[in-house]
Amino acid sequence: MIIGSVVDGDINEKRIPISPETIKKFIANGFSVQLEKDFGKYSNIYDEELQKLGAKILNKDEIYKSSDIVIKINCPSESEISLIKDGAVLIGSFFPHLNKDKINKLLKKNIKIFSLELLPRITRAQSMDILSSQANLAGYKAVIDSVYEFNRAVPMMMTAAGTVTPAKFFIIGAGVAGLQAIATAKRLGGVVSATDVRLASKEQVESLGGKFVFAESSKNLETSGGYAKELDAEDKSKQEDLLKNTIKNQDIVICTALIPGKRAPRIVTEEMVKSMKSGSVICDLAVEQGGNSAFSEPGKIAVVNGVKIIGYKNVPSRISESASILLAKNILNFLEIIYDKTQKKLKIDENDEIIKAVYINKEIN
Ligand code: NAI
Repeated sequence: MIIGSVVDGDINEKRIPISPETIKKFIANGFSVQLEKDFGKYSNIYDEELQKLGAKILNKDEIYKSSDIVIKINCPSESEISLIKDGAVLIGSFFPHLNKDKINKLLKKNIKIFSLELLPRITRAQSMDILSSQANLAGYKAVIDSVYEFNRAVPMMMTAAGTVTPAKFFIIGAGVAGLQAIATAKRLGGVVSATDVRLASKEQVESLGGKFVFAESSKNLETSGGYAKELDAEDKSKQEDLLKNTIKNQDIVICTALIPGKRAPRIVTEEMVKSMKSGSVICDLAVEQGGNSAFSEPGKIAVVNGVKIIGYKNVPSRISESASILLAKNILNFLEIIYDKTQKKLKIDENDEIIKAVYINKEIN
């Protein structure tokens, strides 16, 4: 069986979904691996290294026409879809409701599509969980990017010339990205507080040394799947009152709040941004889902009254070498549940909870 992957057409995508480590595993299991020229260039992995591991370097057309399994981070373009072999397997992260036409075209070619952002958050799926592996790195990188834009030191420094006070970080949303942002800011010596609507996150924030800031609610704001619910007007106003007084005293605010399948909640208002000291930084990781912060713009750093609002797109791709290693491992772990090693053929168990969640085999309306 042949596994193939190509360079992503999106200039913001520097990650790769197959790594040297996973090439070794694929080849040891009898697969052939074919990759496009300069496949890993942005992750400091060069063609010579890939060839030494046994991968073939071919052009895009050849790869699509001959691969039985295509691994691709993002949804293929129209021209790529026309090249993919009928009946092939396609694994990646395709957001089917945003890419209905393309998904339906792929289905017409009998492509078996597995979209891993749809994985259930269950223990057995943890090793394949691309959302967690990438959100964790995004949380880390958001702190690093913010500190880079911040013109002051983060830790407290007591010197003969005077004392530098530590930077204050406020993390909005204490899920996977937020918890890593807290841990990273603490390691740098920041004073960290965080908020979430899920009370369950209090203990996690505190175990990382952060102070938990919480707007009490009479409702349970957590779904059975562990995600946040959207706030109603009453809870939104309570949160706004609390954050108005919190944010004005912060140096760096990292926004990570998301509601699955919905636009990101708007949490940091224009007034809050303007209440911050000049030189402060906001990093909005939710910018591509509509943004948690006023003034954040995808792909830009906006400056309002001297406050920088970072809206970088695809933050995991900004740390592509680490992101690729984890992503490739997630995909390898997923492939292991749809491939029978002894029979050396695909085995798709449609009753498996994981397969049910990620297998797109019906037309999207
Ligand atoms: P997410 O990316 O959907 O959201 C990020 C955070 O924003 C969440 O903690 C959410 O509660 C918070 N949030 C949403 N609206 C908010 C608002 N208005 N104000 C403040 N905060 C708000 O969440 P993520 O990171 O994907 O994690 C979701 C849950 O899944 C968590 O409980 C996490 O612990 C759990 N999880 C479980 C895994 C497992 O394998 N068992 C793996 C990964 C995550």
